[in-house]
Amino acid sequence: MDHFLYRNGALYAEDVAIADIAAAVGTPFYVYSTATLTRHFQLFDEALGFADHLVCFAMKSLSNIAVLRVLAQAGAGMDVVSGGEYLRAKAAGVPGDRIVFSGVGKTADEMRMALQGGIRQFNVESEPEMVALDAVARSLGKIAPITLRINPDVDAKTHAKIATGKSENKFGIPISRAREVYALAATLKGLKVVGIDVHIGSQLTELAPFEAAYAKVAELTEVLRADGHQITRLDLGGGLGIPYERSNAAPPLPSDYGAMIERTLGHLGCEIEIEPGRLISGNAGLMVSQVIYVKSGEDRDFLILDGAMNDLIRPAMYDAWHDIIPVVEPAPGTEPARYDIVGPVCESGDTFAKAREVAPMQPGDLVAFRSAGAYGAVMASEYNSRPLIPEVLVHGDQFAVIRKRPSYEEMIARDSLPEWLD
Ligand code: LLP
Repeated sequence: MDHFLYRNGALYAEDVAIADIAAAVGTPFYVYSTATLTRHFQLFDEALGFADHLVCFAMKSLSNIAVLRVLAQAGAGMDVVSGGEYLRAKAAGVPGDRIVFSGVGKTADEMRMALQGGIRQFNVESEPEMVALDAVARSLGKIAPITLRINPDVDAKTHAKIATGKSENKFGIPISRAREVYALAATLKGLKVVGIDVHIGSQLTELAPFEAAYAKVAELTEVLRADGHQITRLDLGGGLGIPYERSNAAPPLPSDYGAMIERTLGHLGCEIEIEPGRLISGNAGLMVSQVIYVKSGEDRDFLILDGAMNDLIRPAMYDAWHDIIPVVEPAPGTEPARYDIVGPVCESGDTFAKAREVAPMQPGDLVAFRSAGAYGAVMASEYNSRPLIPEVLVHGDQFAVIRKRPSYEEMIARDSLPEWLD
C-alpha cells in the first residue's frame, strides 16, 4: 500500500497534488511519502514482534538524510555499506549502536570511522577483512563486535545482477568453511563474535529461498554454539521484493516473512536483525517527469520525457518494469495509446518502456514512475551533463525540497582546470 492516489482526477502524494510540486520545483523530480515510509517500517517491526529485534533500513536504496531521519524517528536502525553512508546515518541522527556495517570491501579508514563513531556490529565478509578489522580495532584500543556473513549457496531466484547467495557470488564466507573461520575469529583479540549474517539477494518474490538460507543459519547456530561461540544475534539481510507491476501476483508480505523467520529461527532465542531496503522505500517514491515531445516513428510512437536513464537507471540496467501513470487521471473510457517511453540521453538504452499502454499524452503532460523510491535517486548520475534531479518529501499537506536541483553553474564548478591549461 502507498499514499499516491488520484483525487478528483489529480494524482496526490498524501495531501499534496503532484502538479503543485511540479510547479514549485520543476521536472523531473523524486517525491517520497513520509506515511508510506513509516508504514512499511512498522510492518517489518510488527512482523518481528516475537523476538528482540532491530529493523536496519538498507540505506543504499534511498539515502537522503531526511528520509533516514523519518525512519530513525520511527525506531529504525541503518545498514550502511560505506563511510559515506555511515556519515549520512550519523548526520540524520542515528546512534552508532543502531548502525550495522555491511559490504565486501570495507577499508581501514572506514573501519576506524565506525569504531570511533560507534557501531552495533560489522558484518565481516572474508578472512582478510577480519584480520584487517582486528588490527584496526586493536590500534584504537577497541573491540569490534562482528558477525560473519555466510554464503549459504542458495538460489535466490531473482535477477542475476542482484543475486548474492550463490557460491559463485563475491559475497560472504562459504558455509562449508564457517567453523574454521569462526575458530580463527575467536583467536583475534580485537574482535568479539556476536552472531551470524546472511543476505541472499534482492527483489525476492518468494519465501522459499529465504527459508532455505535461514534453515542453514539455524543449523549453523547450533554447530557454532557447540563449538563454544556466543551466537546471540542473527542478521538475516534484506531482499523481500515489491510488486512493480500491479497486474502481477503480489509478493509475500512482511507478516508472512516474519512468521517464517519465527518458524525457522525463533527457537534459538537470538536477537533478530533484518536489512530491508526496497520494501520500505520502493513504493514510497515516485519519479515525476514531463513529456517534451510525442514523436511518430515508422512503426511506433515515442514519448520523449525530460527524465532519462541517468535519473532512473533501473529499466536500462536490469530491464526493470516501472508502472508509468499520468498525473492527470484519464477520463473513464479513455482508450490507451501505445508508446515507447524514452529519455533524451544519446543512447538507445535510454528507454524506460517499450510498447507501453498509457493514456494519450501531449507535450507538457506529467507522468509518474511508480516504485521509484528504492534504487532511484541513489543510482542517478550526471551523464550527458544533466544535473541530479531534486528530491521532495511530503508529510500530510506539507512538502519540502530535501535535495535541491544544482544549477548548471554549480555542476560545472566542481571541475577545475590545471594551471598548465590556464
Ligand atoms: N543487505 C545487504 C547486505 C544488501 O546487499 C542489500 C542490497 C540489502 C540488504 C537490501 O536489499 P533490498 O531489501 O533492498 O532488496 N540496485 C538494485 C538492487 C541492489 C541491491 C543490493 N543489495 C536494483 O535497483 O534492483
